[in-house]
Amino acid sequence: MTEDFDLILTGASCALSDSKNKIRIEEASIGIKANKIHAISLGLEKKSSAKKILQLKGLHVLPGVIDTQVHFREPGMTHKEDLASGTLAAIAGGVTSVLEMPNTKPAITTRELFLQKCEMARGRLWCNIGFFIGATPKNISELKNIENLLGCCGIKIFMGSSTGDLLVSKDETIFEILSSTKGPIAVHAEDEDLLSQRKLQFENCHDVREHSNIRNEQVALLATQRIVRLAEKAKRRVHILHISSQEEIEYLKNHKDFISIETTPQFLLMSAPECYESLGSKAQMNPPIRSLRHQEALWKGLENGTVDVIGTDHAPHTLQEKALSYPQSPSGMPGVQTLVPLMLDLVFKKRLSLEKLVELLCRNPAKIYRPKNKGNLRVGADADLTIVDLKKSMKIENSWIKSKVGWTPYDQLKVTGWPFATIVNGQIAMQEDQILGTPIGHLIDFEKRI
Ligand code: DOR
Repeated sequence: MTEDFDLILTGASCALSDSKNKIRIEEASIGIKANKIHAISLGLEKKSSAKKILQLKGLHVLPGVIDTQVHFREPGMTHKEDLASGTLAAIAGGVTSVLEMPNTKPAITTRELFLQKCEMARGRLWCNIGFFIGATPKNISELKNIENLLGCCGIKIFMGSSTGDLLVSKDETIFEILSSTKGPIAVHAEDEDLLSQRKLQFENCHDVREHSNIRNEQVALLATQRIVRLAEKAKRRVHILHISSQEEIEYLKNHKDFISIETTPQFLLMSAPECYESLGSKAQMNPPIRSLRHQEALWKGLENGTVDVIGTDHAPHTLQEKALSYPQSPSGMPGVQTLVPLMLDLVFKKRLSLEKLVELLCRNPAKIYRPKNKGNLRVGADADLTIVDLKKSMKIENSWIKSKVGWTPYDQLKVTGWPFATIVNGQIAMQEDQILGTPIGHLIDFEKRI
């Protein structure tokens, strides 16, 4: 007799999507065959056979977590991270898919460079991945030439300069991109003109604590208002990355027709100036971590649905680079591996429901970027699953970090809630902190862009 399934997961509470598309958390067994979920029903293991049965009593099965913003540095800066180490860090932390940014060296701005990057990734991915193509003032024909290509999650626009040389600062160019391309557009919204003025004003400043003041809330708000107006004029959906301020949240809550919004765990958990006192330039990122009033506004935005997704902006730099004197110290911090434990700890602390976590980390990322068959736990979906232990208390430590840079801003933080296992394309990639098997991640297939 042939086996019905390759793997059956049994005994866990599962975050299922019901026929009305609501999340229902209930006990069920999940039958996986090849890389798909073939059956979901209580007691499945009693009626069917499987090569392997995983008993998961006391645990929760979620749709695979999608981190919507990571920087894996390949090509060109692979001493910080590469596609293998970045995706390994992802599965170690319970993340099954990532969307990766184009500000590498060289930046990914042409179809040819995009295809080369896909080639580099072959056989080295521990999780599934989508790559962005970067916009420049001159590459519209390339942005059009990449639509519907396997593995392409969308276009990234830097309105203000950050790590790397990607920048599109003028409204006319941004409008042209919005009105003549297809698919998701993700925007780093900081206003380049105001930012340049403020950098000049603080030219001789070597105090990292001023970072949040130099790139202040006006720098962010101005760009956010500009991109909202341009999106409305072009009638084009835009996703604004790492929203950081109260002013933006209050403005955006009434401007959601064409806009979706991401914030980061850093902005929800850290505040300035305290973060600089404890972490120095390790806390330096763009846009910056701001004061408590901004953190509180972001929480409100999360609760009232203004914020759609949480992405980490995983942006690794070595400790040596981070130790350079400000402003030579680069902006960004690792995050992909700590996303799930940090968010589960917020569920434990009752700041977030598990259903809301699934919305922010699985369903909404899938709604915005439209990877085929991901984001929901239902029959027919890809077997990408994040299995979590809501009760397990652990200390996050640098020694656990798989990123090449080997550090996390959350070193020594105690959390309750930990990823138990990561299932990628039907295979157990991580279980109880052990990496299993080989890199079986794919380029993500996205719905056709129309
Ligand atoms: O802090 C940041 N670091 N913000 C960005 O937008 C880019 C990132 C990086 O790539 O280092």
